[in-house]
Amino acid sequence: MIHSTGISPTNHQSPSVQLGDSHTQTTDEALFLTSSEASKVAYRLAIDQVVETILASLQDNKAYSGMTPDALKKQIHVDSMLPAHGLGYDAVMQRVSESILPNFLRTTSTDYMAHLHSPALIESIAAELILSTFNQSMDSWDQAPVATEVELDVVRQLCAMYGFGPAGDGVFTSGGSQSNLCGLTLARDWFCTTRLAHDVKKKGLPDGYTRLRIYTSAISHFSMEKSAHLLGLGYDSVVKVPVDAACRMDAVALRTLIQQDVDSGLLPMCVVATIGTTDFGSIDPLAELAPLCKEFGLWLHADAAYGSGLILSERFANRLGPIGACDSITVDFHKMFLLPISCGAFLVKDGSALDAFMLHADYLNREEDEEDGYTNLVGKSIQTTRRFDALKVWMAFQVRGKDGYARIIDTCVGNAAYLYQRLCANSAFEVAIEPEISSVVFRLRTECEVNKRVRRNLLHHHGVVIGQTVYAGKTFLKFTLLNPLVTHAKLDALLALIEDLGRQVLNS
Ligand SMILES: Cc1ncc(COP(=O)(O)O)c(C=O)c1O
Repeated sequence: MIHSTGISPTNHQSPSVQLGDSHTQTTDEALFLTSSEASKVAYRLAIDQVVETILASLQDNKAYSGMTPDALKKQIHVDSMLPAHGLGYDAVMQRVSESILPNFLRTTSTDYMAHLHSPALIESIAAELILSTFNQSMDSWDQAPVATEVELDVVRQLCAMYGFGPAGDGVFTSGGSQSNLCGLTLARDWFCTTRLAHDVKKKGLPDGYTRLRIYTSAISHFSMEKSAHLLGLGYDSVVKVPVDAACRMDAVALRTLIQQDVDSGLLPMCVVATIGTTDFGSIDPLAELAPLCKEFGLWLHADAAYGSGLILSERFANRLGPIGACDSITVDFHKMFLLPISCGAFLVKDGSALDAFMLHADYLNREEDEEDGYTNLVGKSIQTTRRFDALKVWMAFQVRGKDGYARIIDTCVGNAAYLYQRLCANSAFEVAIEPEISSVVFRLRTECEVNKRVRRNLLHHHGVVIGQTVYAGKTFLKFTLLNPLVTHAKLDALLALIEDLGRQVLNS
């Protein structure tokens, strides 16, 4: 049910506050939140209404309504996305409440465990409202004065948290893919400058660039290949290193591959360690990789998009290994940290490496600004206009504290360990590997097709959304346990349901 706010053109009780009414569109209350009382009333009404509408849409704890793609297409279709005359806020909220809200994937549901895609902490939703309301842009100090200072301080403290010294620096990003692209860009530029005496920023790729090589595990994230393509190096520059039985990069195989490449005249430039692989949460052995990179003179980037959250747990932080020994780190806050998309950071041990992204524009980031103490963050980023996502970290970290966050991480890692034990004790199931973080990959010991049909059945008929992947050539199911509200009883019930559905599919 929609609670009217009086901000519709059709509501005659509040004629002065009408969003979308063409007759009042030049007044601030119909457009923006300003210091005027009328605009504050309109803002409050609009926000109150959306809050009520969201709350009313949450009628059960299912992760998904079950609608098929075709049914959704019909449900959301509007004859004209840009009607000749505005419909007003009430009417559009009504449409949102009917066709969109009931069909959202509910990341807060304990029946959702498909991906590294987390529910959003309540205080971080408040942060989203603040940052959207004030719409700061992080490219220049004059577009985001206090926001710039907050981001600088958050980054400084993150660098210390991950073991970087005072030279460390970084920048907020849209997430892991962008952070990985940043890491590989800096690695390429550093290698070309220091080893080939070639300035990529000015001159483009050096002669013989097809000999440059990046080493990463066979199960690293696909953003390695994407980045290599974007950097002009191509997929062929990415050497996939085999993993051991625990799905961690095999450091002995890495050494052999690097040595072979050096011997044949190729140019190894960088190793990317995955600190929490996408499917398994396995962690590459930094203690072995860091000295190897030193020996061969390679940049070491940690893709800790998933595992970076372990730093919050006293019990499990040591699973990260010596992460401060890396040259750069990808941190994602929209995974284990439970902050809303998008929210990521790219950290680098020697902040001067970020000069790769520095370019002065007369209209935006004049050189004299820096000299006078105004930081224009565009000089550290591959984005120009950029959200004030650092506020979400600033608020959530202070609201929860280390102990509050540690409870969340410990619960999720503990849930994965519990699920692993239950699966090992049940002969109906087979498990890929013992979890190091909070993802568990398993299957019913039956045909791959049965496992696939069980997952589809859960999605469309039970409101349960779980993951599916391939391990050792077979279809596996996956629980990605980022939600600390998941209980052991819930995990037991889901396993029983999966077993039961497996039997039903086999007998159908
Ligand atoms: C290990 C790893 N790296 C990078 C990424 C990409 O992160 P994003 O989706 O934030 O771009 C993911 C996404 O799941 C990931 O698992």
